[in-house]
Amino acid sequence: MNKKSELKWTRKHLLGIEELSAEEIRLILDGVSGFKEVLGRPIPKVPALRGRTIVNLFCEPSTRTRSSFELAAKRLSADTLNVTASSSSFVKGETLKDTARNIEAMNIDMIVMRHSCPGAPHFLSRFIKTSIVNAGDGPHEHPTQALLDVYTIKEKLGRIEGLNVSIIGDIAHSRVARSNIWALTKLGAKVTVCGPKTLMPAGIEKMGVKVTYDITEAVKGADVLNVLRIQRERQKRAFFPSIREYVRCFGITAELLRKYAKKEVVIMHPGPINRGVELSQDVADGEYSVILDQVTNGVAVRMAVLFLLNQVRTTEVE
Ligand code: CP
Repeated sequence: MNKKSELKWTRKHLLGIEELSAEEIRLILDGVSGFKEVLGRPIPKVPALRGRTIVNLFCEPSTRTRSSFELAAKRLSADTLNVTASSSSFVKGETLKDTARNIEAMNIDMIVMRHSCPGAPHFLSRFIKTSIVNAGDGPHEHPTQALLDVYTIKEKLGRIEGLNVSIIGDIAHSRVARSNIWALTKLGAKVTVCGPKTLMPAGIEKMGVKVTYDITEAVKGADVLNVLRIQRERQKRAFFPSIREYVRCFGITAELLRKYAKKEVVIMHPGPINRGVELSQDVADGEYSVILDQVTNGVAVRMAVLFLLNQVRTTEVE
């Protein structure tokens, strides 16, 4: 993990972590610290993407990812345009394919897209010439979230290989869980997933993870606890008896950490947090929480991604 990658980036799109090699993940992560340095300057901007236009096409709500991609593009001197489903011709019945092709006809360079359908960015990548970045496709993947999570872990603990990372909560509906599992296992971490049986996808062991339904087992020996949001908007029925029951069985509290966690355990959450449900207030804001560091690192990680994709696009245009 500490060795710099010698690989050259060749992908036009970033659609998921599953298809990336460990070397490709390392190549992206290698670029992040340079962009963090840029973000710490009095004028946090470089001309790398001057003349490029990046469209944020978001068909699902977002605070962190959309703002982060927009800032990343602006810090690289690209022009940006935001298109949201609720204020576009989607509401008049225009298809995703037509929307994307019309936006592309305005001579843009990249589309960053979030959609509730798994595979929506993969589908679009077959029809348009523009680079596509998956900013979350339903419960499938959220590649830049996994990249910023892995970067944050490495920044805090100095490595990924050999670490014990527990991912806790609503695994079944979580694109963050899937992308994190791919990234962490490819980089040599040992991953445990923990949550109610009803929120655990069948066959998840095939992704190379250990499964437990006992929160104390997930917490003991873990270097990192990545705690997921209960995604009530994706749950079509009740997957556990009550929120109170969920908190009692799977909520991460200061008392649980005091009893079972390693002394310097790193607490992560992709946001938005259901405070008092998956994480207690004091843990969310406590000394081991890196939740806001994740958000800060997200801008530099997305700058690194946009920078690499632009290099491929530049080669294609020349
Ligand atoms: N982590 C994440 O994807 O947050 P948003 O939904 O606010 O973008």
